[in-house]
Amino acid sequence: MHLINFKELSSQELIKLVDLGLEVKANSKKYLKTFQGKSAALIFQKTSTRTRVSFEVAMTQLGGHALFIDWRSTNFALADLGDEIQYLSRNVDCIMARVLYNSDLLKMAAASRVPIINGCDEKYHPSQALADLITIKEKHGKLKGAKLVYIGVHNNVTNSLIEGCTKTGVELTTVTPIFNEASRDQGLLSAAKKTGLWKSTLDVKKAVADADFVYTDTWIDMEFFTDPKFAAEKEKRIKLMAPYQINAELLKINNAYVMHDMPIHRGYEISPEAINSEKSVIYEQAENRLYSAKAIMLTLMKQ
Ligand code: CP
Repeated sequence: MHLINFKELSSQELIKLVDLGLEVKANSKKYLKTFQGKSAALIFQKTSTRTRVSFEVAMTQLGGHALFIDWRSTNFALADLGDEIQYLSRNVDCIMARVLYNSDLLKMAAASRVPIINGCDEKYHPSQALADLITIKEKHGKLKGAKLVYIGVHNNVTNSLIEGCTKTGVELTTVTPIFNEASRDQGLLSAAKKTGLWKSTLDVKKAVADADFVYTDTWIDMEFFTDPKFAAEKEKRIKLMAPYQINAELLKINNAYVMHDMPIHRGYEISPEAINSEKSVIYEQAENRLYSAKAIMLTLMKQ
C-alpha cells in the first residue's frame, strides 16, 4: 500500500513499475482521466524542485489534483503527526511526503488510510531510483546486465539505487569514500551483498573502465551546503572527494552515460563539461521523475 523504500516490492513488482513508467511516457494521453476527482497531498519539510514538480504535474496529467503542503506554514509544524495524517487521509487519496526523518514517514504510514509515498528522507529516495532505472532501461534497452557506477558520498540516494539495482539485475559498483551515517541501513546492505550484483571499491578508475553509466550526487546535503555551521565539514569533504569528481578526465577512461539526480553543485561532484557532455542524460533522468511519479501513483492508488 505504501512506498517507503523498495523492501516490500518483489523484483517482478519493481520491474513492472519501471515498465509502467515507460508505458505512461509513451502513451500519456491514455491516462489523462485516470484520477478524475482524486487528490494527492504533497507534504514538504525540506526544499524541492523535481519531487514537487513531478508529483504535481503527474496528478494534473492523470486528471487529478495535487495540494502542496508546506510543513512550516501548516499545523504539521505544531500538532501530533498521527492526528494530522488521520485527518488528511480522510480528504485525499494519496500522500507524498519529503521529511527529515524516516521515522516520521513510518508514523504517517501507521496513521494513514491512503498510500504514503516517500518523497525522500535521510535513508531512502525511491521515486528518484525508479526514475534512474527508467532512464537506464531507456538508454541501455534492458536493466539486466547494465553496469552502473555510483561515485560520491554513500547517502539516501545510494541506498535506493542499491535496492533498485539489485532487485532488477543492474550490476552496481559504488565508490563512496564517505558514508553518511544517517543513511545507514545495514539490513539493506547485507541483503544487497547477497545478490552478488552490488560491490564497492575506492578504485574509481577501475570501476569506471567497465561502466555503461556513471552517476554522482551532491557531496553535502542540500540543507547544509550554505550553512556556516557546516563550513568545516564541507571543506573536509571537498578535499577528500575532489579526486572522485566526474569530469572529462575520468570520462576519457570510458565514454559512459553520465547521470546525476540533481540539484547539481557544478564544479564539485561533477564538472560543467561532464554535465554538458554528449553522453550526459542528466536532464532526461530528471524529466523521468514525472513518469516515476505517475507509475508509483497509478500502482498505489488503483486499489
Ligand atoms: N532529485 C531530487 O529529489 O530533486 P529535488 O530535491 O529538487 O526534489
